[in-house]
Amino acid sequence: MGSSFAAQLADALENSWPAVARPNQLPPPGDWWQIWLLLAGRGFGKTRTLAEWVCDQSASGQASRIALVAATAADARDVLVEGESGILSVSPTWFRPIYEPSKRRLTWPNGAIATTFSAEEPERLRGPQHDAAVCDELGAWSRPETWDMLQFGLRLGHNPRCLVATTPRPIKLIRELLAREGHDVVVTRGSTYENRANLAPGFFDQVIRKYEGSRLGRQELNAELLEDTPGALKHSLAKWISRLAPAGNTNIWPTPSPSPTPRPHQHLCHQPGTRRLPQRFPRSD
Ligand SMILES: Nc1ncnc2c1ncn2[C@@H]1O[C@H](COP(=O)(O)OP(=O)(O)O)[C@@H](O)[C@H]1O
Ligand SMILES: [Mg+2]
Repeated sequence: MGSSFAAQLADALENSWPAVARPNQLPPPGDWWQIWLLLAGRGFGKTRTLAEWVCDQSASGQASRIALVAATAADARDVLVEGESGILSVSPTWFRPIYEPSKRRLTWPNGAIATTFSAEEPERLRGPQHDAAVCDELGAWSRPETWDMLQFGLRLGHNPRCLVATTPRPIKLIRELLAREGHDVVVTRGSTYENRANLAPGFFDQVIRKYEGSRLGRQELNAELLEDTPGALKHSLAKWISRLAPAGNTNIWPTPSPSPTPRPHQHLCHQPGTRRLPQRFPRSD
């Protein structure tokens, strides 16, 4: 009995999250940060990191009112709570929360509560207060105002904190968080390749090989924040020009060249009655 208990304990420790997590999956040290932004590729273990952090926060008593926010209600339920890397799956048997889907609520044995929210319904976050929050795939949220609503309610306890785990997209919200790095935001980064040992070989053989080296692969696998979206410059230029051009005269955009072998500058020529192209162009989102 004694040795079996010791064996179980050893097994539990060996498989505990601090033992198996990679360093960039563990909470950054210090208490200066309010937001932990984990930018990582598909299959890196972002959702697992979120779920483990939530379990740790509730078990340690550091948080007792937790918001779980995903892109949709189905994602919150199927991925964050009931998913293979979700909270129920990673919880130890001795500290497993009870899940009440109709209330969108998880309740732990010590009374800590987590509630699921959909990024499609920002209004639901108007009112509830939290001392911790997790945001899965922020880059895929359809309504960025959900982020603002969440922040307004993150006001319980001594140091309310938020973990955001997402594949990076060049959206305003992610850029703003990156600009706060070192102030109240701590950033960790990771690629899909780091978690190769825990992903099905077929995923690497087929999916990874297909996207490796491509632009989409740089974003989705290596978690690079790609600023230079193809067409973005043209889009910025068009927006800028439409603001500058006198009403009713937007005839500044390239005209078809009459010559069969046009020189490049002919395509951006200055037309009578229009204003010159600006020297510098603003970046678009
Ligand atoms: N450090 C780790 N040790 C063991 N398994 C891990 C680790 N990190 C992630 N996993 C597993 O890898 C798989 C993919 O993780 P997941 O969190 O779903 O990835 P993501 O959300 O980044 O796409 C899951 O089965 C998860 O449990
Ligand atoms: Mg995930």
